[in-house]
Amino acid sequence: MAKLAIDGGDPVRKEPFPRWPVFGDEEREALDEVLTGGQWGIGGEKVDLLVEEFSRLHQTEFAVAVTTGTDALQIALTAASAGPGDEVIVPAYTFAATATAVFMANAMPVFVDIDPDTYCLDAGQIESAITGRTKAIIPVHLAGHSAEMDAIMSIARRRGLIVIEDCAQAHLAEWDGRKAGSIGDLGCFSFQSSKNITSGEGGMIVTNNRDFADKCWSLHNCGRERGGAWYKHPYLGGNFRMTQFQAALLLVQMDRAADQAKIRTENAAYLTAKFEQIEGIRPLKVDEHVTAHAYHLYILRYDQKAFAGVSREKFIEALAAEGIPAASGYVPLYGEGFVADALQRLNFLPSNRKRKTISLPVTERACNKEAVWLTQNLLLGTKEDMDSIVAAISKIKENIGDLVAK
Ligand SMILES: Cc1ncc(COP(=O)(O)O)c(C=O)c1O
Repeated sequence: MAKLAIDGGDPVRKEPFPRWPVFGDEEREALDEVLTGGQWGIGGEKVDLLVEEFSRLHQTEFAVAVTTGTDALQIALTAASAGPGDEVIVPAYTFAATATAVFMANAMPVFVDIDPDTYCLDAGQIESAITGRTKAIIPVHLAGHSAEMDAIMSIARRRGLIVIEDCAQAHLAEWDGRKAGSIGDLGCFSFQSSKNITSGEGGMIVTNNRDFADKCWSLHNCGRERGGAWYKHPYLGGNFRMTQFQAALLLVQMDRAADQAKIRTENAAYLTAKFEQIEGIRPLKVDEHVTAHAYHLYILRYDQKAFAGVSREKFIEALAAEGIPAASGYVPLYGEGFVADALQRLNFLPSNRKRKTISLPVTERACNKEAVWLTQNLLLGTKEDMDSIVAAISKIKENIGDLVAK
């Protein structure tokens, strides 16, 4: 029996996984072009080129480049007229921004549970969360796997609701050949450091609706009107404009994205096949409608029972010692401090306050004991790198007795 690295044994691997972000001379040259060109902000051509290219790639007619994914969501919500007194349905298993953006738009998030096989919003539970105040639904394409867009769109159309896709983790992802962001009324992307296409920070709103596109444009540009005078502000808006530096980086990063997506997809399929042999490790499923998965994360479902009762946290610690970085991920959003803080600050009605006490079983299982995340840069490795992940998990399983007493 091998000695686990957590007990001082030899780790399965010592080399780091591929670094993220990936960059080269192309990024340097693109940044230098903006630097020396002198148009660092509005007026330069890179943002316009990016908007054109991004909307083409994501099959939408319009796009607005903004500062962050969080701002993209807030702007999209405001453009969709979600505001005071409105409710917006969101999954409870997502990054905080999906819900904080709703509060920042002065509306109220209503948390719904996730599908146990995909961790995306459970479409079957949406109807029961709809009230007379519901304005919109924000499905999150979690980890790069599209939410169930047919069912969600059909509920939304029947009930007169706006759908804002949270595509922060889903660049180039597809549902039945349709790109993430192109199916709902609006789609919001993030280019924050960890994302599959990145400029450190940044965001994008996509839509096929001209009215929404114009509203988003105005909201992100100080309330100006397209084609209007610089010192004329017919609407209430902020400055959420992307810089030309970010756009220059993103144009190059986008050129790399398709090849990187192919490597991640191949490695994910390889891992999934291997994990079939390990009892107690079940990767999330891929819905048959998903024609492209962005694999921003590769998520395993850890079954403590199959690992002699060893907690997920201890398992992750042992994995890290073997040279495999992994994380447990989110906590249920409805228990986060920002919810209580926002309810108090925005002075929501007492009937809404009750929502704080909700408990969503699948979300809680994923957050508290099941989910193990591997980040997208790991999937950019070689087959040998993937084998080392499998080997480390197998080694822990074979020596699980050594972890039981800890
Ligand atoms: C699901 C989800 N929504 C929204 C965001 C917010 O994006 P940003 O960090 O660019 O504000 C993120 C990323 O951080 C995310 O993962």
